[in-house]
Amino acid sequence: MSTLSEVAQKLVADNKGILAADESTGTIEKRFAKINLESTEENRRIYRELLFTTPKVEEFISGVIMFDETIKQHAGDGRSFVQVLTDKGIIPGIKVDKGKIPLAGFPDEEVTEGLDGLRDRLNEYRDLGAQFAKWRGVFKIGQGLPTKGAVHANAHALARYAALAQEAELVPIVEPEVLMDGDHSIEECGIVTGMVLDEVFAELFINKVDMNGMLLKPNMVLAGEEAENKSTADDIASATLEVFKKSVPAEVPGIVFLSGGQSSIEATKNLCELNRDKKSEHPWALSFSFGRALQNEALEAWHGSGDNWQKAQEVFYNMAKADAEARRGVC
Ligand code: 13P
Repeated sequence: MSTLSEVAQKLVADNKGILAADESTGTIEKRFAKINLESTEENRRIYRELLFTTPKVEEFISGVIMFDETIKQHAGDGRSFVQVLTDKGIIPGIKVDKGKIPLAGFPDEEVTEGLDGLRDRLNEYRDLGAQFAKWRGVFKIGQGLPTKGAVHANAHALARYAALAQEAELVPIVEPEVLMDGDHSIEECGIVTGMVLDEVFAELFINKVDMNGMLLKPNMVLAGEEAENKSTADDIASATLEVFKKSVPAEVPGIVFLSGGQSSIEATKNLCELNRDKKSEHPWALSFSFGRALQNEALEAWHGSGDNWQKAQEVFYNMAKADAEARRGVC
């Protein structure tokens, strides 16, 4: 059995990255609505089968994060999805948070729930074959936001989750996401991301989480979606690394970015810039754990039709390849 640090290393090894295919039922419904497809359990299963069985995608994908429903589903040939991925040498993972709810006393802020009963659920997922887990905490930039209270509540939950995941022998992916929503500047995003990361790592230390056996899944530091001054890839790479160098311990084996609403092209370009000529300046593997940036084009190509199966798999393969190349600074 691999140790936590071996699994964490494998997830960021060989210039591969992670596919986040852990959309909750509500989120996948929104994604399917864009292609006018009803979100039935069978349609969700077929779509995940398309992604997971893409020929040779294991050249670029080290791990897949699934949702509770998905980890219990099977491919058309009768193999469980866990088996399908394992047969390809891809490490199965699972999202274990239960989503966000309003944080009492903090208007416009949310806290991620799911700690109650988490120990039992983690053990169940490990027995199903998962080797790593994910929990997302969300932070919104706005007038006076995020507040200290909301940052603390979410950081504490992330750390409690991470400790429980390691106890269950699952590598925790710790995902603090500062949202792109709004018109904030790249500087504001840097300040807030730094503050959030400092609080998250303080809580991780207090909760005795082993930094060698976890991965960090953060946002890139960039200007808000509605900001007048858009950030260039060069600005994003410099600002992101500046923040991480102050806030992320060197023991953490890898940083696997979320795409967070960036287009596939932007997310890939920015990841490439992060890896281009700045590699020697920091101790971490800088990789991807993209959801939308890996899937958007494939979903569009599929459009819910079996006739488009092969085409959609080719699109997914090419996107995964582009992101793996971005990891090597090739773009
Ligand atoms: P995006 O890359 O679409 O942000 O999704 C990543 C993810 O796992 C969100 O929790």
